[in-house]
Amino acid sequence: MDKLVVSGGRRLDGTVAISGAKNAALPILAASLLTADTLEVSNLPTLHDVGTMLRLLERMGTTVERDDGRVRLRADAIASLEASYDLVKTMRASILVLGPMLARFGEARVSLPGGCAIGQRPVDQHIKGLQAMGASITIEQGYLLAKVERAGGRLKGARIVTDMVTVTGTENLMMAATLAEGTTVIENAAREPEIVDLADVLIAMGARVAGAGTDRIVVEGIETLHGASHAVMPDRIETGTFLCAAAATVSRHGGEVVVRGARPRTLDAVLDKLREAGVTLDCDHDSIRVRANGHALVGANVRTSEYPAFPTDMQAQFMALDCVASGTNRITETIFENRFMHVQELSRLGASIEIEGNTAIVKGVPRLSGANVMATDLRASAGLVIAALVADGDTTIDRIYHLDRGYQSMETKLTALGATIRRVAGRPSC
Ligand code: EPU
Repeated sequence: MDKLVVSGGRRLDGTVAISGAKNAALPILAASLLTADTLEVSNLPTLHDVGTMLRLLERMGTTVERDDGRVRLRADAIASLEASYDLVKTMRASILVLGPMLARFGEARVSLPGGCAIGQRPVDQHIKGLQAMGASITIEQGYLLAKVERAGGRLKGARIVTDMVTVTGTENLMMAATLAEGTTVIENAAREPEIVDLADVLIAMGARVAGAGTDRIVVEGIETLHGASHAVMPDRIETGTFLCAAAATVSRHGGEVVVRGARPRTLDAVLDKLREAGVTLDCDHDSIRVRANGHALVGANVRTSEYPAFPTDMQAQFMALDCVASGTNRITETIFENRFMHVQELSRLGASIEIEGNTAIVKGVPRLSGANVMATDLRASAGLVIAALVADGDTTIDRIYHLDRGYQSMETKLTALGATIRRVAGRPSC
């Protein structure tokens, strides 16, 4: 398994370009199953999870033509309606093929994802919504067997009120509804910008979708969708991650970092918290500049919640910032029940953090010192990289495959900014 070795204490300076958003790309790729025509997707990030989704689609019979940052998908000869355990277990977002397959083909066999490092993450809301649309769903040998029993095998529109706000749940139901007979209303819908990006693709494919970005999405089903071409939105979590990395280093060592090709208006809560923590930010429509203001960071309290509030996917990175700020700050995680696994690893670097229920109480320390740490999930890894950038000495971060799932060339981008960071190829271990 590869490791990253970070020599901390370097000044970061320069411009970093943001890649396409993982969490927009994955549902958009799954949406290719809704049509026999070609869907062309550009600004596609080069990520392990994107590769997994493309492999899954290919296995089903989708033709995938890929060149740099762009893919052409054609699902005109689907031979298998199955998402098997070996792929789903490596990427929960595989569940996103369920809605499109059921809507277009009237049946699907998708492995249940099972638990994951950050929480149980059930998919009961996906199931409940699709059942309301006329699907019969059973679980056999770890697989969801879904079938539309109605004549013609077509889902029917329904009014669905989800029990909680779910991002991929909303996406699955929105995609399924595009080909259903009649109108579907999704109440309590997630409002994340990635849902708007997916809705834009569906609309470009001919779907009738209104209200994406609000908590009430209305989809008027039609019989077929056609091809389209779409550029994936910039990754707001990658943007926030580089802002935290820049903020942590600039406040100590000076320098100035510009994050380019971003969409600042999708990051309001993160930008507010960074400013509250004492970071100077200048935004224009597609870039954000982080510069030193001669003052130490003061940190900020954070409570994760659904968009537009502070994202759970930025919690670990912000915690790394609070670790080296002055004062004591509280970070409360409300979305996932087990998303504090980075705390122990940050403590190995000298951070002072106590956990009380779903709140981490972070007492800023003047310095962190390098150590061997272990990445436990994608965003936890990013938090460790930020902490390592400001720690004295070398930090070795093991299990970096987590980082590769969701960050395109993170070490190359950081090196270009002046960080000293290198990848060490490791032997596979158990
Ligand atoms: N939940 C249920 N039942 C469901 C669906 C969700 O109980 O049927 C619960 C979950 O267990 C969780 C909460 O509802 O406690 C919210 O989960 P959600 O369904 O919104 O999460 P997700 O769709 O599985 C997406 C992102 C995650 C991100 C979350 C929250 C993708 C592919 N993944 O997951 O991204 O953390 O929304 O914003 O869009 C990441 O990129 O690192 C990542 C984990």
